[in-house]
Amino acid sequence: MDLTDFIRGMPKSENHVHLEGTLEAEMKFALAKRNGMDLPFADVAAMKASYVYHDLPSFLAIYYDGMKVLQKEPDFYDLTYAYLAKAASQNVIYTEMFFDPQEHLKRGVAMADVIGGITRARHDAEQALGIRSQLILCFVRDLSAESAMEALDAALPFKADLVGVGLDSDEAGNPPEKFREHFAKARAHGLKVTAHCDVDQIDTLQNLRTVLTDLSLDRIDHGGNIVQSPELVAIAKERGIYFTVCPTFSGTLRRTEEVPVDIVRAMLDAGLNVTISSDDPAYMGSEYMDDVLIRAVERSALTREDLITIARNGFESAWLPEADKAAMVARLDAYVNAA
Ligand code: ADE
Ligand code: ZN
Repeated sequence: MDLTDFIRGMPKSENHVHLEGTLEAEMKFALAKRNGMDLPFADVAAMKASYVYHDLPSFLAIYYDGMKVLQKEPDFYDLTYAYLAKAASQNVIYTEMFFDPQEHLKRGVAMADVIGGITRARHDAEQALGIRSQLILCFVRDLSAESAMEALDAALPFKADLVGVGLDSDEAGNPPEKFREHFAKARAHGLKVTAHCDVDQIDTLQNLRTVLTDLSLDRIDHGGNIVQSPELVAIAKERGIYFTVCPTFSGTLRRTEEVPVDIVRAMLDAGLNVTISSDDPAYMGSEYMDDVLIRAVERSALTREDLITIARNGFESAWLPEADKAAMVARLDAYVNAA
């Protein structure tokens, strides 16, 4: 079996995908129509042609503008179900999905509608398609700490529908310690904690150190610059930290040549626990899990063994009971043995 077919058939976990980043142009038009909104694009092709960015802020401007069509509970349902159906069609059997509630609260959408629509779709997709999923509330780090706390407080009545909190958006001037109290409160309520450390950001190594040591987070999203610091690599390995790496976006953000080789390759070679995900596929050429992995084979010189390690890491890093993770790893092992 060639590696492309091997990837397509492999049971997978996706642990770094922003639901609002799966909002395809076609659905944006459909939701705008349903909600009586006008969009400043003639058609899908024109909208997609506007998805041009060169760094994190220019990406985020497009991403936040696009999500304004999400207004009502059924919009969040449709968005989530469409992603889960796509993922299930690529043998993603488990996924942990981010969402950015502050952006929706700002527009007057109720937290109950955001989490309610997503949760209803999660349950329906599990019933109909067999894909299991959980939800991670992201703090939008360039909004105020107060705004993030308001979102957390508004979400806590629904904490049974959440598995953790995360930290995304623009890192410049918004270090992880800005959210120290939020992380502590989330943990006190039984939630896991992760944070984006996007590639080649200002203070990137300092922020990696903070999340690894001071804040002692449970996972790191992206985090590729860690290979520049043998000391931080050693700490991450000692702590058994998993990294949710999104090579499509990391490739866009690369600004320096200080990381000499491909990030996924460098992280694997450093002995770090790497998983691979699609991040914001609707804004990244509609490349979902299989597409990202297939591209990574070339880009990062992945072998069959690397792919199996990455898939196993996806399950082992999941925020699930040990027995459930073991059952998913067993499914992967059975696939590998039969392939
Ligand atoms: N929001 C959506 N995708 C993101 C990313 N990759 N980094 C930071 N914020 C994001
Ligand atoms: Zn991300």
